[in-house]
Parts: sequence; structure tokens; C-alpha cells
Amino acid sequence: MDNSKVKRYTVTAALPYTNGPVHIGHLAGVYIPADIYVRYLRSNKRDVKFVCGSDENGVPITLKAKREGITPQEVVDKYHKIIGDSFKEFGISFNIYHRTSSVTHHQTAAGFFTTLYKKGVFTEVATEQYYDENAKTFLADRYIVGTCPNCGFENAYGDQCENCGSTLNPTDLINPRSTLSGDKPVLKETTNWFLPLEKYEDRLRTYIESHKEWRPNVYGQCQSWLNAGLQARAMTRDLDWGIRVPIRGAAGKVLYVWFDAPIGYISATKELSNYGKLGVWNPRAEEYYISDSENGAFEWEDYWKDEGTKLVHFIGKDNIVFHCIIFPAMLMAHGDYILADNVPANEFLNLEGQKISTSKNWAVWLNEYLREFEGKQDVLRYVLTATAPETKDNDFTWKDFQARNNNELVAIFGNFVNRVMVLTHKYFNGIVPTCMALEPVDHAVIDELATYPAKIASSIEQYRFREALMEVMNVARLGNKYLAETEPWKLIKTDEDRVRTILNISCQICANLQILIEPFLPFTADKLMKMLKNAGHDWEDAGGVNLIKRGHSLGQPALLFEKVEDAEIEFQITKLNNSKLENAAANAEVIPAKEDIQFEDFSKMDIRIATIVAAEKVEKTKKLLKLTVNTALDERTVVSGIAEHYKPDEIIGKQVCIVVNLAPREIKGIASQGMILMAEDSTGKLVFVSPSNQFADGSVVR
Ligand code: 2FM
Ligand code: ZN
Repeated sequence: MDNSKVKRYTVTAALPYTNGPVHIGHLAGVYIPADIYVRYLRSNKRDVKFVCGSDENGVPITLKAKREGITPQEVVDKYHKIIGDSFKEFGISFNIYHRTSSVTHHQTAAGFFTTLYKKGVFTEVATEQYYDENAKTFLADRYIVGTCPNCGFENAYGDQCENCGSTLNPTDLINPRSTLSGDKPVLKETTNWFLPLEKYEDRLRTYIESHKEWRPNVYGQCQSWLNAGLQARAMTRDLDWGIRVPIRGAAGKVLYVWFDAPIGYISATKELSNYGKLGVWNPRAEEYYISDSENGAFEWEDYWKDEGTKLVHFIGKDNIVFHCIIFPAMLMAHGDYILADNVPANEFLNLEGQKISTSKNWAVWLNEYLREFEGKQDVLRYVLTATAPETKDNDFTWKDFQARNNNELVAIFGNFVNRVMVLTHKYFNGIVPTCMALEPVDHAVIDELATYPAKIASSIEQYRFREALMEVMNVARLGNKYLAETEPWKLIKTDEDRVRTILNISCQICANLQILIEPFLPFTADKLMKMLKNAGHDWEDAGGVNLIKRGHSLGQPALLFEKVEDAEIEFQITKLNNSKLENAAANAEVIPAKEDIQFEDFSKMDIRIATIVAAEKVEKTKKLLKLTVNTALDERTVVSGIAEHYKPDEIIGKQVCIVVNLAPREIKGIASQGMILMAEDSTGKLVFVSPSNQFADGSVVR
């Protein structure tokens, strides 16, 4: 959309399911990029409403309630608070964080459905759906599991196979089972209301093809859906949690969660507008995290129905079809809404080389991060932006987190600002000195500085946030290079006027950084603003070198960033490893017991404590170690298959248990006399079965 035609912006961020806290994958994929974009727009004095909220309907919520033994309402109340509080503390600057259990949302979504129903948009279709006779209920989407017809995965859901990613219908599953009773469900007829997507295919194609500027991943997915041919999709479900279908004869049915969730963006805007009209008296303001700055009255319809509004949806890649095909079709069917100008969907973020998984607790949870790294919101914002999965899946590692903090934030950005603050205090008592005659090096830095705001703005407007952040860091690099070239600490003895100029320009670079970094690292910008005592600037001032007047008194220097220590990173890595162990233990198969033996059989075994006195690899093998073991009876050789788990050096001196009366066997030409007892841990590693304290060699184990 041509910027000159844009009167206002509606920016939405995917409503998170309220069945758990948010993690770094959500932040990197959706909330941080959306927040950068909105903060940038606000700094440009553009009119923007940034809306989000909790997605509280649908099967993910009822399943969680069942697992935790609480009601769905208790689930959503608990996580709405956790998620909302975390977003706020993390500086995600929604105008409103609403929720889809609110009255405004129920009315809006039901009203939307009624309008479509009255216009005759839906087709009423009787289909056979799986029904659990034991639980006396139809089984929607995730209430049913079975074998995926595409990849053979045995626990595919009724709507999707998490193994191969294919979209499924419950009737596609082989050997379907109810997740409520475990029983095989029966097919039973039920009527639902379908949105005939095929009728909108041509208009959708025209719409999508008018947006060739969309990211290739988004555009490509839309094309492949359209090329495969669209089919009618049920917009209602036989469920008892959600928004009741507002028509007669629809008892026991609710709106499909993907029908009501995107309408959540509209109802959030409505609620915000109600608040604007009511002023501070909206009793729900706190519950909906309505931002303090949001107190003006406005008409919500301007933000959804006026052609001068630019609508942008920030989502993760698994939500593309819902935002680019189904929701636009709903809006087209309604008839009076604008469509999204862009849908910048990110790819996925992995964690330490593995897919983030809520159920496996393989994640960095925002609420835990905020507790464990107090005051370090911007470090995570920085790392997740610098490594954002904008065009392909990417990996978050704790080592990289530490390196980016220590080598980039501390060593480049923090270091530049600190040097300027300290030198200005040391030489001029913290008073911004006068800029004297300019030399070529000054002109060069001033000219280069002036190019950055437009470059950064262009990247942000094209949703290239990694690139934009890199350019802001280049401004700090420019400052460091300028100080290194001009060396004011040397000149102060001979040419104080020159130092005045250098530090004046350096203070201006700091003031520029304050403006340019704000969309990305708002807490840092705020600290910098307080340090420079330099409020009231926004994007249009950036690039200039008269942001801080000569004679202005700076605040005290303080460090913007601290080093992240090894111990902090090790703590996080251990935490993840513990999740891995717990998962492995939970998934470990318990091997059935062998056949019974008699006591006499057992007593034939002679097991002793012994010490390993020498160890070496058996040549030309990967797995074998040749051990020399002192059993007190003798010193003997044992060949053991543990070379992949232990190095020879680390086991010398170790006490172990050995079966000493096992008949000798020749292994790779070596006579092996006995068997050392090993246990396999949950990761598959072989571990010695050893006495817990020192024993005399030869002690009998029985
Ligand atoms: O994938 C999800 O987490 C969904 N709850 C996103 C919903 S986005 C929108 F449509 F509300
Ligand atoms: Zn599959």
C-alpha cells in the first residue's frame, strides 16, 4: 500500500492459545517483530492500534483442563494472567491485550456469524463424524488420534499430523481412538455450517496475486493452497466449550475456534474503543492490559473498514492459511471489511538444535526468563531479533545468547556510550561541549550518520528486522571507529577545542542511538534517555547532530549492559538437559522381565568388586576397550563394549562389579575373562554399576 495513502494502521499479533506460557519461539516469530514495527510507527507519529489477546476457545484448552483436572475457565484465567503479565514486563506494547472469553468478543463473533448466516453464506451439511459412545460426545479435531495415512505416525491428531505436518480430517485416520475413553469411536450423523471457500477462490487469487511483495514463504503457501483447489470447511463444531452457535437448532454446537479467533482482533479493537469512550472507568482495563497511553476516543470501524487503514497481521508460519485464505474469505463474505496489506509470517525457531516442544518442556519460557534474568529483557529482544527466523528456520543456543550479549551489546553498543559519558564527565564535568571547527573526519562521520535513519526505516517497512537491527549496531560501530580514529584522550593535553568537537559529535551519536534503538530495545533507549537527560525526540529527529544542545548537563554514566557469566549459561543448559532426561525417562520402554530362574541358578554366579588398573582401546574397533582388572583373586583381562561411553584414562582406578566365573571368551583375538556389570541410562549411555564407597577388591556381591 502506498504510504502516502495510509491514514492509520491496525497491527495484529496472533492470539496465543491460553494453555501454557509463551516461549522464545512465539516471541521471535510474532511478538518481537510486531512490537518493533509498532514502536517504529509510533516514533514516526503514525496512528496505530496494536491489538492482541488470549485465544481461549477450542480443543487445546479443554484438553489442558482435562490433563490438569481443572475447568477450562480455570485454565484460561490462569494463563491469561501469566501471558499478559509477561508480555507487559517484556515491553510488548499492545494497546490492548484482550481475551476471547470476554462478553465483547462473544457478541462480536456471534454477530459476525449471524450476519453471514443471514446472507446465506453458509451451507448446512450433514456429515458423519466420530462419536464416543462412552463419553457421549462428538470428537472434534484433537479429541481423536490415530495412524497418519501419509507417514504412518501412530499418534496423529484428527486435524493434523505433527510428524509429517499434513492437514487431516478425523476420518482420514487409520485405527482412530478417542482421547477421552481410548475407545474406537463410531460414525454418527451431525449437521454443521460450512464456509464454501471454493466460491471465494477467484477473489482470493486476485487478492493474493496483488501482493507479490509478500514474503516468498507466505506467497508460496497461498499459491499452493489455491492451486490445490479450495474446499468448504466447517465453521462450527460439536463441543461444549466455546462460543455458542447463535441460531435455533444448534444446541451443543460452538463456533470453530479458527472462525472466532481472528475475529478476536476486531473485538479487541472494539473493546479498546469502548475504553477510549469511557475513559479510565472501564472496569476491565486492567484485565485487558490496556496501555496507559491509550485514552483517546476513536471509532473501531475506521480501523477495520476504511480503505485508508493499513492492516498487518504478524503470525507464525503454521497460521498462514487461516490468515491469508480463511479469514479473508470470511471478511469478503461479510462485505464491508478491508483485507490485510501484509502478513509477515516467520519460520520456526529451534532451541539448541531441536524443535521447540511444549509437551517435552523443550523451550525457554518467557515467565521463567524474566525471573532468572531480571532486568535483561533487551538482551533476549536483541538476540531473538538478530537471529529471527525471517526467511528460514533458525536456532537459538545459550552460548550464542552469551556471545551476542558480551561481544555485541556490551563490547560495541555499551562500550561506545560508556566511553562518551565517561570522557565528557572527565573533561567537561558532564556538560555537552561546543562543537568547534569541523575537520574532514568529522564531516565524514556526520554524513554517514545522516544516512542511517532512512536505511533502517526502509528495512523495517519491508519487515526486515534483522537487517534493520544490524544497521543500528553499525551506528554504534561508527561511533567506536570515530573515537578510535580521533583519540580524544590523547588530544586533551594539546588541543582541548578539538576534544570539544569530538565529544559533541559523539554525544549526538548517542542521542541518535537512543532514537534508533528504541523500537528494538525500549528499556535500553529509556536508560539512555535518562543518562543523556534527553527526552522528547522521535524518528524525524534522527540523523541530525543537534539533538543535544551545547551546555546541556548529562546524567551520571551507568552501564547499559552487563556481561552474561558462564555460570548463568551453564544453569540454563543444565535445565534443558534435565528436561531431556525427564522426557527420556518418561518415554523409556520398560523391558519385560525374563523367564524365572531358580535360586540355584542365581547362586552359581560369582560377582565380585574389582578395580580397573589399566585400559586401552582395542585396535580397529569402535566399541571395545581392553581392561585389566584387579579382582584380588588375580589381575585379569576383560574386553568390554564401552569405548563409545568412556575414554580409557577416565576409568582407571574405578571400582566395578564383575562376574568372575563366566567361562572365558575370545573377542577380537583377546581372551576375555569375565563380564563387568553395566546399566543403561535413559539416554542410552552405559554406566558402571559401582559400590557407593570404597570396598576391598574381591568383596562378594550377592
Ligand atoms: O496458533 C495459535 O497459537 C493460535 N491460537 C493463533 C490464533 S491467531 C488468530 F487468529 F487469532
Ligand atoms: Zn504424518
